[in-house]
Amino acid sequence: MKLRDIMNNIPREKLAPLPTPLQRLENTEKLIGANNKMYIKRDDLTGVGSGGNKVRCMEYIIGRAKADGCVGVLASGNGQSNLCSLAAASAAKAGMKCYIVHNSDKPETSVGNALLNDLLGVEREYMGACDSSIREKYVYEVIDRLAEKGEKYYLIRNGATTGHGALGYVNAIIELVDQCEKENLDIKHIFAPGGNGGIASGLVYGNALMGFPFTVHIISVEDTKPVLIEHIEKTIKEIEEITGLAFEFEVDKAADIVDKYMGDGWSFNTPESENEVLEFVRTEGIYIENVYTSKLMYGYKDMVKNGMVDGDSAVIHTGGFGSLFSQY
Ligand SMILES: Cc1ncc(COP(=O)(O)O)c(C=O)c1O
Repeated sequence: MKLRDIMNNIPREKLAPLPTPLQRLENTEKLIGANNKMYIKRDDLTGVGSGGNKVRCMEYIIGRAKADGCVGVLASGNGQSNLCSLAAASAAKAGMKCYIVHNSDKPETSVGNALLNDLLGVEREYMGACDSSIREKYVYEVIDRLAEKGEKYYLIRNGATTGHGALGYVNAIIELVDQCEKENLDIKHIFAPGGNGGIASGLVYGNALMGFPFTVHIISVEDTKPVLIEHIEKTIKEIEEITGLAFEFEVDKAADIVDKYMGDGWSFNTPESENEVLEFVRTEGIYIENVYTSKLMYGYKDMVKNGMVDGDSAVIHTGGFGSLFSQY
């Protein structure tokens, strides 16, 4: 069976208005003197909550949760986690409950995603500041506690970087292939950020199983290339278990994994990424934020400017709008 057929048979809750728009970045092309067309794939406009990549992931996670007979989903992350906020908004749309565990202190004033979560009225608990590895163990206790009350919750592990979560970006490759054909676009390269590697795993796997329609470039915002590759390999194994289709490549050969724009890692701005948040919205009227999309956008523009991208290209805007308001 082919990837498309298999994807059509996996439980999915439709949440996002898809395909997300592909818009030309003409002002950016002029600004950097690009020789080819540049596009932005607006995955920040995924139609639920403040939008972003996690809505695609939630389509498959909620699909699985419903198929498993769960009443809700349990998400965990720091107080400004985009995943937590989007899991809560997605659950609301899907008619499910959501429970959030934050490994941070309760904020005195709610800003950014914390405010959005207040408005959503989602049930939350704060563990106080601790490492995410401690949180990832603790959530199993919470799941058990909820189950004792007779409520089965689906645990969203590892910031939704799981096989089911990554299916959202396997689907995004199929969507991009169809969209390019329908809109008569000749996009050869796609760029996306690499945090835990969930988006990257879906894109790299989907692109390979669709016969490499694109060159996938992943701009790491968090870890060095070997560490990010390890994360991607692990999640690709989980995808393979769901689809039953093997990925017979080395990640490093199947995609371009770039770690030169990450600076000191997750949530540490580089001078260039800090500037990019301002430059990009002042050039294109599209907001990006300081953790993921600023390093992505700077890296994308830098690689195009330096002639490292031969042909038309698209960058995937993964959102994060909710957290932007807590970053200044
Ligand atoms: C806005 C945004 N972009 C990118 C990412 C990175 O995604 P991944 O962890 O799948 O690499 C995240 C993850 O939380 C995110 O919130």
